[in-house]
Amino acid sequence: MSHERSAFGLRIMKNSHSDMRKLRKQTGEATIHGNKFWKSTYLIMDYLREFPPKKRARILEVGCGWGLAGIFCAKEFKAKLTSLDADDTVFPYLVYHATLNDVKVKTWKCRYENIRKADLEKFDLVIGADICFWDEMTKPLYNLVKRAQKVGGVRVVMTDPGREPFRKMAERCMEDFDADYENWSVPHPNNASGLVLDVPAS
Ligand SMILES: C[S@@+](CC[C@H](N)C(=O)[O-])C[C@H]1O[C@@H](n2cnc3c(N)ncnc32)[C@H](O)[C@@H]1O
Repeated sequence: MSHERSAFGLRIMKNSHSDMRKLRKQTGEATIHGNKFWKSTYLIMDYLREFPPKKRARILEVGCGWGLAGIFCAKEFKAKLTSLDADDTVFPYLVYHATLNDVKVKTWKCRYENIRKADLEKFDLVIGADICFWDEMTKPLYNLVKRAQKVGGVRVVMTDPGREPFRKMAERCMEDFDADYENWSVPHPNNASGLVLDVPAS
């Protein structure tokens, strides 16, 4: 059995890979589910291939975990990438995958509810895959989109397998902003399906 996958032009290690096992020993377990590559990342990669950002866009990935969505953007669109997570135990896995795939990344330990408008001004696109999985996450993520709309010039794209907290957040964004919200699926061999929320820059 292979301990590695190839998808969307990237190398992605499985948790069973010896390097991942070593990292787990060194850094300990992630605490807010950033303990593996989540499949909603395939949705964002596939969606952004169809609706890409401009080349060399400044991209912020929030709730990055292992960070493959942002790494994909850095590789495919030459994006300038910053990857944010509340849990810094994810960063060694992120940096490992960035190095493996030959891209640069800046890490930022921060909770997404603490991202200010002044921070958002430095980005063209904010992305997030599977980051709205508890009820208490609905409001802060809606507020993050709202701040991005207020700043202007910042697009937000988020994907999710279809959990209720994400649906609620996305429906509020549909009501209040000029957002697209749709089902998305990625065929064999990656096999992922779920939802995409795309809120264009105001
Ligand atoms: C289910 S994982 C998804 C990770 C990655 N986006 C992926 O698709 O593989 C959720 C990630 O969100 C992070 N997270 C949870 N709450 C957060 C918050 N309030 N601010 C920033 N990151 C958060 C977790 O640490 C974790 O890495």
